[in-house]
Amino acid sequence: MGYPHPSHPKETVLLSKYFGDPGARTYAGWIERGGYEGLRKALAMPRAEVIEMVKQSGLRGRGGAGFPTGLKWSFMPKDEGKPHYLVCNADESEPGTFKDRELLRWTPHAVIEGCAIAAYSIQAQTIYIYIRGEFTEPWRIMTKAVEEAYAHGALGADAFGSGTRIDVVLHRGAGAYICGEETAMMNSIEGKRGNPRIKPPFPAQAGVFGMPTTINNVETLSAVPHILTRGAEWYKGLSLSSPKSTGTKLFSVCGHVQRPGNYEVTMGTPMRDLIFDMAGGMRPGRTLKALIPGGSSVPIMTAAEVEGCALDYEGIVAKGSMLGSGGVIVMDDSTDMVRTIWRYTRFYAHESCAQCTQCREGTAWTTKVLERILSGRGKQEDLQLLLDLADNMTGKTICVLSDSCAAPVVSGIQKFREEFDAYIAGARRPVLAAV
Ligand SMILES: Cc1cc2nc3c(=O)[nH]c(=O)nc-3n(C[C@H](O)[C@H](O)[C@H](O)COP(=O)(O)O)c2cc1C
Repeated sequence: MGYPHPSHPKETVLLSKYFGDPGARTYAGWIERGGYEGLRKALAMPRAEVIEMVKQSGLRGRGGAGFPTGLKWSFMPKDEGKPHYLVCNADESEPGTFKDRELLRWTPHAVIEGCAIAAYSIQAQTIYIYIRGEFTEPWRIMTKAVEEAYAHGALGADAFGSGTRIDVVLHRGAGAYICGEETAMMNSIEGKRGNPRIKPPFPAQAGVFGMPTTINNVETLSAVPHILTRGAEWYKGLSLSSPKSTGTKLFSVCGHVQRPGNYEVTMGTPMRDLIFDMAGGMRPGRTLKALIPGGSSVPIMTAAEVEGCALDYEGIVAKGSMLGSGGVIVMDDSTDMVRTIWRYTRFYAHESCAQCTQCREGTAWTTKVLERILSGRGKQEDLQLLLDLADNMTGKTICVLSDSCAAPVVSGIQKFREEFDAYIAGARRPVLAAV
């Protein structure tokens, strides 16, 4: 649920304003709330101006990498005659992240509108919205919303009488984490196994069916109608810190907090406010030990690093981690860091597409070494082995799944080494049976 911070102006709650309001799901309800004005405005503008506006707004990708959205759109070739595609990444499988499903569930027309604006500006007639297979309710809601958008002329051969064709195809995934990676998603859309592709060529050159393609996250696209209706300068002004981090961001907060949930904040809001004010802080008698700020794929932060950290791309990097997808996993002093890290590596080992040796072998081997440590059979050399494996898994593969597995391992050993040592020295009771 969106939660306006007391010290912030109410208008900063943009994306989550209608969470919990079923009236916003229908076409009529969306129009009553000012919906589709952004698309109408965009369709009356030259395409290049729409792209420039999004560039000027400072909007950056909310799917993980934080790439500037307008710049990405500008990479698409112009008037070269090939079909273009827009892909909306609604796969949301990053552990700790649960905000896109809420956008799909509560404001489906905001997603469609953002997609349509993007499609218009990059000259794409077809939009694929790739929805994670397990998202049964969002799928049902999106299906209805797309039907309604066609019935009212927002989509179709002549979107709002503009002469522009915009079609939406809802594509249901089968629940593979790797299919959230943009090029794996493109293969999956084509009916192939979801293996990431080597880049270059980048999607803007050769994406879906080898044609120029842009891919954006659900939250990124949902922000676009607000930029069109209220202007780039206004959006850019929504920042409490760096001019490179603008607008609002949904953070999914889970773990050892009293009020887990989605919270929308202005970029630059202190991380402490999110954890201790909005999310209610730790359970009684507990203290913050660590957190992972951007979904499980980014380095772990200690409680000390949370102090003075601004919730934006630069602020989190300055503290040694990344904003990622905005999935904040909070751990109090009862957390066993070694066991937690093992739980993540197991996930990555299970989800590796197995295409690259470093990932296929590295994620599984890392998991086995952690299992050895957790079952009381670890050796002091195992820590160096884990770091060597992590080194081989970072920056050496087609996609960054193996880098993601390495991040919590390396930061965990750097910041919580005494917990690994305790298992190895026999000072901590094994939590896994020896196999
Ligand atoms: C293994 C892996 C999984 C990913 N999963 C997702 C995902 O579930 N949703 C998402 O939006 N981006 C995901 N990404 C990032 C996408 O590849 C891509 O950067 C993003 O969709 C671009 O959109 P944006 O620029 O709007 O952020 C994933 C990346 C990797 C390497």
